[in-house]
Amino acid sequence: MMNMDYPQVARDTLKGNASPPSFPPFIENRLQECDEQLFRPRKNKKPLVLGNRLPDRNSIMLQSNDYLAISGHPAIRQAQLDVLNTQSQEPVMSAVFLHENSEKHAFEREIAAFSGFESAIICQSGWAANVGLMQVIADSTTPVYIDFFTHMSLWEGIKASGATAYPFRHNDPSHLERLVREHGQGVVLVDSLYSTTGDISPLREVIGVATRYGCVSVVDESHSLGTHGKHGAGLVNECGLTDQVHFITASLAKAFAGRAGIICCSERFAKYYPYMAYPAIFSSALLRHEIAGLQATLAVIRQGDNRRKALREISRYFREGLAALGYNLASQSQIVAIEGGLESDTELLRDALEERNIFGSVFLAPATPKTRSLMRFSLHSGIRTDELDYVLKVCEEIRDDIGMWNWKSTKRRKA
Ligand SMILES: Cc1ncc(COP(=O)(O)O)c(C=O)c1O
Repeated sequence: MMNMDYPQVARDTLKGNASPPSFPPFIENRLQECDEQLFRPRKNKKPLVLGNRLPDRNSIMLQSNDYLAISGHPAIRQAQLDVLNTQSQEPVMSAVFLHENSEKHAFEREIAAFSGFESAIICQSGWAANVGLMQVIADSTTPVYIDFFTHMSLWEGIKASGATAYPFRHNDPSHLERLVREHGQGVVLVDSLYSTTGDISPLREVIGVATRYGCVSVVDESHSLGTHGKHGAGLVNECGLTDQVHFITASLAKAFAGRAGIICCSERFAKYYPYMAYPAIFSSALLRHEIAGLQATLAVIRQGDNRRKALREISRYFREGLAALGYNLASQSQIVAIEGGLESDTELLRDALEERNIFGSVFLAPATPKTRSLMRFSLHSGIRTDELDYVLKVCEEIRDDIGMWNWKSTKRRKA
C-alpha cells in the first residue's frame, strides 16, 4: 500500500509516473535528427523498416535468417530443456574464467572439426566475434582492406582496433591488389556471401591477393555456414581455401537459428584470444543450455543435406523467376534483393508487397548506400513452390503497377 507520508516525487516514482530528467542539446539534437530522417518522411510516420501492419498466419514471411527452417526443431529444444531441467546452478561469468573441460570448449572442438579449422572460439554474437577479433589482430599501424559491402560489425571492429580502413570496390580483387601494393601488408576483410545483395565473394581471387602479399585474411561466413559447402561447412571449405584463410567468423543467428557467434582459427590463436579480446573479458559467456542447443543444432545441420538441396533449388527457382520478369538481380544465393533505390521508392514497393500479404525486410542506410535502399527476401528450405509462385505473380503485378526498377536496370516508371 502506498505510504502517503512519502514526498510527491517518491510517490510518483512508486506509481511509475516520475517524469524523466530532460536531455541536454547534444542528445536532444540527435533524437530530433533521427525523428526528422527516419520517422517524419514516411507516410505512416514509422521507420521504413517497420511496415504498416503485422503479418498474420496467411502471410508469406521472407524475413527470417533461419535458412534451413530448423528453429524449434524438437532435438534442439529438447537439448536445451534437458540442461535447464537438470542443472541447479549456472555459472554466469565471462568466458575468460572457463577451464579447458567446459561444455563451451567441447562445442568449440566440434565446430572446428565441422569447419575444417584447428580451433574455434564461441562468442556471444557475430557482432562480438568480429569486433573482438579486429580489436585483437589490428592496431593503429595496421592497414585494413575491406570490401565496401562487408558487414557493419567488421567496420566497427576496425574502429575498435584504431586501424585505418582502405575500402575496395565490391567484389573487385584487382582494386584490392592496387590498394595492398600502395599501403602494404595488412588485414583483408570480406563476407563470403553478402547479406544485403546475396552475391558471393570471388574468394579464390581475394584470398589469392591476400596470400601473395602476406596479408591476414578474415572471411565472414555468417550467411554461408550451414547452407553452403560439404554438409554445410561453408564456402571457404567448399573452395578448398581452409589452409590459406587465417580466420572465418560467423553469426550463429542465421542458418544456426541461435544467438551466438564463432571465430574459426589456429589452435595457437585460440589459446590467447580469451585473454586479449574485450568481448571475452568484459562480457559474459553463453549459458550452458544455449551451448547444448547449439550442439544439437550442429548435428541437425550436418545431417541437413536435403534441406540444403531444397534451399538451393527454391533459391534458383525464385531467382530465375524474377529474372524472367525482367528484374535485374545481383543474388547468387538464398538472399534475393530487389533494389528500390530511393527510400520513397522502396516504401512504395514495401507497401505494395504488404498489401498482398508478403513480408520481406527493408534495408536502407546505414546498411546500404543512401540511394540504394532495397527489399530483401530471405528464403528458407521449408518454403513451398506455390508460395514462391504467388510472390512471383505479385512481383509481376508490381512491376507493371508501380513501375519497379532495380539493380543495374534503368528506371521504368509508369507515366
Ligand atoms: C555478415 C554478418 N556478420 C555479422 C553479423 C552479426 O551477427 P549477430 O546478429 O550474431 O550479432 C550479421 C548479422 O546481421 C551479418 O549479417
